[in-house]
Amino acid sequence: MRKRIVAGNWKMNKTFEEAIDLVSEQIIAFRNDKLPKDIEVIFAPPFPFLKTVSVLIDIPHVHVAAQNCYIEEKGAFTGEVSASMIRSSGAGYVIIGHSERRMYFNESNEFLAKKVVIALKAGLIPIFCCGETLKDRKNENHFNIVKLQLEESIFHLSESDFQKIVIAYEPVWAIGTGITATPAQAQEMHAYIRKLITDKYNHKVADNISILYGGSCNAKNAKELFANPDIDGGLIGGASLIAQDFVSIVNAF
Ligand code: 13P
Repeated sequence: MRKRIVAGNWKMNKTFEEAIDLVSEQIIAFRNDKLPKDIEVIFAPPFPFLKTVSVLIDIPHVHVAAQNCYIEEKGAFTGEVSASMIRSSGAGYVIIGHSERRMYFNESNEFLAKKVVIALKAGLIPIFCCGETLKDRKNENHFNIVKLQLEESIFHLSESDFQKIVIAYEPVWAIGTGITATPAQAQEMHAYIRKLITDKYNHKVADNISILYGGSCNAKNAKELFANPDIDGGLIGGASLIAQDFVSIVNAF
């Protein structure tokens, strides 16, 4: 049975003290509310806070993710952070291919394919992001775009490696805009992604992979989104910066 996951992508927000407060408040809430055993919660703070957040977390099923990693293992790449550094800081996951990385840092599908490989090699679970722009959707090209992102960045993986990853569908037009994909739109794309995985690998692999929705998901709309058969949780941006909102999203399952 696939995992249900709620991950908070803090992006480039919070100072060190604010990060500690945010994570501490949520840990207290998850301890008191008894996080259901089959739900995983992931915090994705900025790089400088990875170790501290990892040390603070002392509840099973709560994990830490980095927001990015570089394609090389080590060496003269000033300013970059390797997957093995992230792993050794206590994180178990890494977000790869977020649309902000694609848009502002020109990360291509081919480049992201390398990140997925290096992350897996370091023992990290990639949370691979895909999703179309508004223009793609208006041109009814959204299925083709997502298909190409999967084909060029993750479909080169062996079946056993592919089974380790998590996918996040994040339509670019829904990120930080307050415009959420309707549950029907999100379900339609998630089912399509699962069908592509069935065709490329097999039914069992497709059935077991967690596919998260991201894009203006909040405490109000999470329940309706998560109620869909192919939506296994969320990758949350803005709402993950407010402890009570994020806790409510986790409890929306
Ligand atoms: P928002 O929830 O702020 O729309 O961001 C979604 C996102 O980009 C998560 O990675």
